Amino acid sequence: MFSLIKEIEKAQKNKTAIGHFNISNLEMLKGILAAAQELSTENEKVPVIIGLSENERKYLGDNQIVAFIKSLQKENDYPIFVNADHCKTYESAERAMHAGFDSIVVDNSKLSFLENIKTTKKTTSILKSINPDILIEGEIGFIGESSALLDKIPSEIEISEENITKIADAKKYVEETGVDMLSPAIGNMHGILKNFLNPNLYTKRIKEISEEVKIPLVLHGGSGTATEDVSEAIKSGMVIVHFSTDLRIAFKESLIDLTENYFPNNPNEITPYRYMTVPIKAVKDTVLQRLKLLQNID
Ligand code: G3H
Ligand code: ZN
Repeated sequence: MFSLIKEIEKAQKNKTAIGHFNISNLEMLKGILAAAQELSTENEKVPVIIGLSENERKYLGDNQIVAFIKSLQKENDYPIFVNADHCKTYESAERAMHAGFDSIVVDNSKLSFLENIKTTKKTTSILKSINPDILIEGEIGFIGESSALLDKIPSEIEISEENITKIADAKKYVEETGVDMLSPAIGNMHGILKNFLNPNLYTKRIKEISEEVKIPLVLHGGSGTATEDVSEAIKSGMVIVHFSTDLRIAFKESLIDLTENYFPNNPNEITPYRYMTVPIKAVKDTVLQRLKLLQNID
């Protein structure tokens, strides 16, 4: 039986991070697991977290996807976990807990700071009273909502030294809400900018927050972030790193490749489990690169 909190503690000790990858379908899930297994040895299995946003959960079904991932964990004897990403309401978080997700992101980051604390505290205490083992992550600071290709930084996101998460706010938030993990806003954003580089992370602030709150930190918006920043963020206290847009791009590009190259050369191929190996491999290759970065593997 694998435990996410134990894997987090191991990553903290090794100064590595666990990859969290969002999925929309089973092909993405297969690609992610294949990548993690390829990097694993008999004695050292690379853990992965499969993330599902509220819409991804709706598409795949809470109970169905949790059962699928738990059966993969059991049959492969592999540390693969499932996270209910960005739950925007109490009801959504409660449904995820009953479905058996390993962890839940309680996302009230669009509310004012004090409302965020109040709402997150309430959700966390109710969920923990029902299931004390559930791991809850809280979010401070709005970093956008879409894992998409963006023309510009969404206007509601403010990235500057004055607007990123303050050390005292992080401390207050963690003490008052009782969350197990924290995702601060430190220059990160969801999605990839089409014509510019995504902003740099404020890694010094990550270290200061980490030293103050002493709970694991989670970096959202990994896609498009400079690899040196991701490495520095991990050294500074980030223990889980989320990627979604990168996988969506890889999946879509592989479908274009199928249509433009594979099907014209294989006109009689109609069997999905044969040709869907192409998107699975595209996702696997993308995840392999990201996992190597998080695990410090050359
Ligand atoms: O929760 C999801 C992640 O934070 C994904 O962000 O699409 O920018 O990689 P990303
Ligand atoms: Zn996120």
